[in-house]
Amino acid sequence: MAMQLDTYFGSFFLCIFCFSWFLSFPAEAAVRKYQFDIRVKNVSRLCHAKPIVTVNGRFPGPTVYAREGDRVLINVKNYAQYNISIHWHGLKQLRNGWADGPAYITQCPIMTGHSYTYDFNVTGQRGTLWWHAHILWLRATVYGAIVIVPKEGTMFPFPQPHGETKIILGEWWNSDVETLVNQANKLGLPPPTSDAHTINGKPGPLFPCSSKHTFSMEVEAGKTYLLRIINAALNDELFFSIAGHNMTVVEIDAVYTKPFTTRVILIAPGQTTNVLIKADQPPSRYFMAARPFMDAPIPVDNKTVTGILHYKGIPNTVVPSMPKLPAPNNTIVASNYNKRLKSLNTPQFPANVPLKVDRHLFYTVGLGQNQCPSCQNGTQLTASLNNITFVMPKVGLLQAHYFNIKGVFKTDFPDRPPVPFNYTGAPLTANLGTSLGTRLSKVAFNSTIELVLQDTNLLTVESHPFHLHGFNFFVVGSGVGNFDPSKDPAKFNLIDPPERNTVGVPTGGWTAIRFRADNPGVWFMHCHLELHTMWGLKMAFVVEDGKSPEESIIPPPKDLPPC
Ligand code: C2O
Repeated sequence: MAMQLDTYFGSFFLCIFCFSWFLSFPAEAAVRKYQFDIRVKNVSRLCHAKPIVTVNGRFPGPTVYAREGDRVLINVKNYAQYNISIHWHGLKQLRNGWADGPAYITQCPIMTGHSYTYDFNVTGQRGTLWWHAHILWLRATVYGAIVIVPKEGTMFPFPQPHGETKIILGEWWNSDVETLVNQANKLGLPPPTSDAHTINGKPGPLFPCSSKHTFSMEVEAGKTYLLRIINAALNDELFFSIAGHNMTVVEIDAVYTKPFTTRVILIAPGQTTNVLIKADQPPSRYFMAARPFMDAPIPVDNKTVTGILHYKGIPNTVVPSMPKLPAPNNTIVASNYNKRLKSLNTPQFPANVPLKVDRHLFYTVGLGQNQCPSCQNGTQLTASLNNITFVMPKVGLLQAHYFNIKGVFKTDFPDRPPVPFNYTGAPLTANLGTSLGTRLSKVAFNSTIELVLQDTNLLTVESHPFHLHGFNFFVVGSGVGNFDPSKDPAKFNLIDPPERNTVGVPTGGWTAIRFRADNPGVWFMHCHLELHTMWGLKMAFVVEDGKSPEESIIPPPKDLPPC
């Protein structure tokens, strides 16, 4: 699988070596050190060159490898003109929000010329996660994979693949993204959709000037490969498929699943999906392709990215066949796929679903419109949870909580919407104003939470991928229309629901998640569509300390960036 060069702790190996090299990691917990230099670099795609923010000049950035139980130290030095922070998406960061990364939530950003070392342990997790910038829209180019290999002596709970590769799906804009976003915000409107989707930074041959920007992986006939698929796109939920080949889903968001075979996967921004593929088709060249799923009347970049599954020995002149992707608005394929996801739930990898709920939360997800005298129509689009548009503070919320700084946030985020209404009835186009505030929800240590996220038809319904920092949660139920507290809980899956860190709330529907608040700190929760995060579709939980120091937030590191 000599398909790409990759940095392994600073040295270069061909990927062909990486798999056996994982298996030779030392047995004891190790310290893995990385240097991330944030640098601006000129990159060209689709016949357009532009400066982009990168890590170590690479796009996508380097992969972080660790073994379960390791300590990871990543020194981020900022040489770019933007202040920055990096989030290790899906890592639980037990008692250690200081290393989580969302700007103004758990840290102040790393200013130009400054550095910060993210210092964390990888505990109780193994699989594929990813990292990305967590400020402005810089994650458009600042992202990469995290690969956590199982503890030594522990095998995958599925056949060992012959090789593996990462498939990082992204979005590319020909123009400078921050400029587009600033212009859009002045108008109170969304910025233009992206110009291309990418696989490992490459749009593939359906785009101009892209023959050398095409991802290709070589496979040997008869062998099995593990694909670590990551959706790093900013705003697009994606279908992904490989011509002629089945995929067996074995893991989502670094949690093993009951394996199942499918022709297409659905992956929302923030999510990861590991699949096995077998090179069991006539040796040839096959396209893998991704394109959005969008079942609401909302503009989306509908262009298809392709990469190539290339059987060894087949000449490059063979024209690859194209997979059949579902229509972009095919809700049935999307919901049937999601229904098949189940936790593996074995004695070794149990699904510890909270059965008793201490706190029931019900949050409506909505778009809205607020006054904006300087904007084009005098209004600006916005978004809210329980009709609250989250306002970013000027100081990190975790610092404010830990050091008891008053006046930064309130802990009065409501457990249910201020006024119940028919959430998913006809589109609501009047009274779209929201209330603004930095309001958090306070949660007792180790309490169990059930949160129902209810989409609404304020302006329009839409599917929203919700991400919770600091935890995995169980997706116990989901449905279309309004959640019915008298009927729907009876249908919850409390045995083997999928466990993840990001879940799609279906268009005009609801999703119920459960988690145990056993990680003290301040934890961000937001829609992982960057447009909606920016518009305020976010809030945070303050999980209180437990009784003992072992159940409390650890002290902040000395180099935590000041505001
Ligand atoms: Cu991947 Cu708060 O984000």
